[in-house]
Amino acid sequence: MQSVGDVLKNYFGEINAHVGEQKNITCDSHGERVATVIASFGKKRIYSSCSACVELEKQKELDKEARQRQAIVQKKLNAAGIPKFYAQKNFDAFDDSFNTEARNAKKSFQAYAQFINVDTCGFLVGYGATGTGKTHLAIAVAHSVITRYTVAYMMASDIIRAIRETWSRNSTKTENQVLYELADVDLLIIDEVGVQFGTESEQNHLFEVINKRILDLKTTIILTNLVLDSGDGRNLRTFLGERTYDRLKEVATTVRFNWGSYRGTNKFTQPQGEMR
Ligand SMILES: Nc1ncnc2c1ncn2[C@@H]1O[C@H](COP(=O)(O)OP(=O)(O)OP(=O)(O)O)[C@@H](O)[C@H]1O
Ligand SMILES: [Mg+2]
Ligand SMILES: [Zn+2]
Repeated sequence: MQSVGDVLKNYFGEINAHVGEQKNITCDSHGERVATVIASFGKKRIYSSCSACVELEKQKELDKEARQRQAIVQKKLNAAGIPKFYAQKNFDAFDDSFNTEARNAKKSFQAYAQFINVDTCGFLVGYGATGTGKTHLAIAVAHSVITRYTVAYMMASDIIRAIRETWSRNSTKTENQVLYELADVDLLIIDEVGVQFGTESEQNHLFEVINKRILDLKTTIILTNLVLDSGDGRNLRTFLGERTYDRLKEVATTVRFNWGSYRGTNKFTQPQGEMR
């Protein structure tokens, strides 16, 4: 007895025997082109659109996929608390052509991004003057890992506020819950450390978070305008307090941003009014 496949084959000839064959056609949009057989049975052939239309369709599909991927990334960045202003600030957007230190800083942050969630990764402390790209590079790390890891971006003041808000009677979270959340996220970026007063209670809040993350070997980036421990008066050591700073010394890689502000270097090509 013949199988169904054989019956069809005898009747129609080999199915898809002509796939790949081409013929010349005239496309309304593209003129003289070729079309390709995408299915055949017997004398019947199904042709693709013209080669240029097929390319366009493919490109549209790729663009759509890229847009969808991009939308997912943006959503996650948003959920991580990354300000819209920095939504496009990835490593590609960081110009490191102007000096060796900037090149090294970028390399350090790129290398750090490779080690998120690796137990030996430790902390990264970026310090230096305003506008030098500390926040940009930390967020570039977030960009490169956001589809694989949980990320939170917070100012030091946000952390202090989040902890203090739990003391309110209306708070929906306990202090321990907030500390647990801050300890749990794979990558925590603590920005603007040193803008606060550095009171003992602020020091204690930051100690709780930083110490817990050190003990749990959690990847953490700390950014500050302060110098580390030199100079008289305010520095990171006096600001965070000895207990925290001493621990950081053991686990942190430091990156110094010792060049001028990048802000305003490519802006206002048209007169925009005075900025003061
Ligand atoms: N090397 C760079 N290439 C491209 N853009 C840069 C670079 N450095 C800084 N910028 C841009 O300049 C602006 C300031 O950078 P950023 O906010 O990262 O500075 P910062 O060091 O965090 O400053 P602050 O200490 O005031 O917070 C941002 O728009 C950032 O994208
Ligand atoms: Mg910053
Ligand atoms: Zn066409």
